[in-house]
Amino acid sequence: MTSPITIPTLYKMKERGEKIVSLTAYDYPLARLIDTSGVHMILVGDSLGMVVQGHSSTLPVTMDEMIYHTKLVTRAAQYALVVGDMPFMSYQTGIETAVANAGRFIKEGGAAAVKLEGGASVSGVIKAISLAGISVQAHIGLTPQSVHQMGGYKVQRDEDRLMADALEVEAAGAFSVVLEGIPSDIAKTITQRLKIPTIGIGAGPFCDGQILVIHDLLGLTDRHIPRFVKQYAQLLDLAKAGVLNYAEEVQSGSFPGKEHCY
Ligand code: KIV
Repeated sequence: MTSPITIPTLYKMKERGEKIVSLTAYDYPLARLIDTSGVHMILVGDSLGMVVQGHSSTLPVTMDEMIYHTKLVTRAAQYALVVGDMPFMSYQTGIETAVANAGRFIKEGGAAAVKLEGGASVSGVIKAISLAGISVQAHIGLTPQSVHQMGGYKVQRDEDRLMADALEVEAAGAFSVVLEGIPSDIAKTITQRLKIPTIGIGAGPFCDGQILVIHDLLGLTDRHIPRFVKQYAQLLDLAKAGVLNYAEEVQSGSFPGKEHCY
């Protein structure tokens, strides 16, 4: 069996120029599918607030909900490195709370690392969590937990600020950084400058790896699909056809057939 992915594996991949493949997952069946497909890193993203819970943003997601979903994913993952996403207000109110909440992802959720949003403004939190022995993935650029401050889900173009944020989170001890919603040329410069791997979403092809939300990739959602997503399947259409077929057969009496009876 191939050895499980560790943080040193990810550093080696960056050094060798091998792309890191990452996806989100929120439950056992999809995490198992992703893990057995050779994906290197699974993020239990707070995007579950939108694609699983039906909220219009990630803001309502709680720590307890994140821990529950992280447990489902880590039960399935034998190969991929699992990262738990710290929800809104689980790390913004003080360093002690942030470290304690990060610890819950590792101790209760079984994750190998945590992710949190923000650049220079959260470097103290990243440092404290890292010093507690917990690996942190940073997330800069379009940070969905700041949707109201940003005035919507908008591409971030301030190159000086993005570079400063990237350098600060690296210096604070982050093992990797998600670059979301930034122009490709800025993502390229940041990727060349940093020693830690960059994982892009809506940040072009030059990042060290890519991440997408699994429901977007598989067409498992009818929400608006951003331009940066490529849909590799349309599972919602297939599933809908299956359910309609079942309903028709129950109503017409053709299901269950003899072969389904004892
Ligand atoms: O919550 C999430 O799924 C994320 C990724 C899209 C990076 O933050």
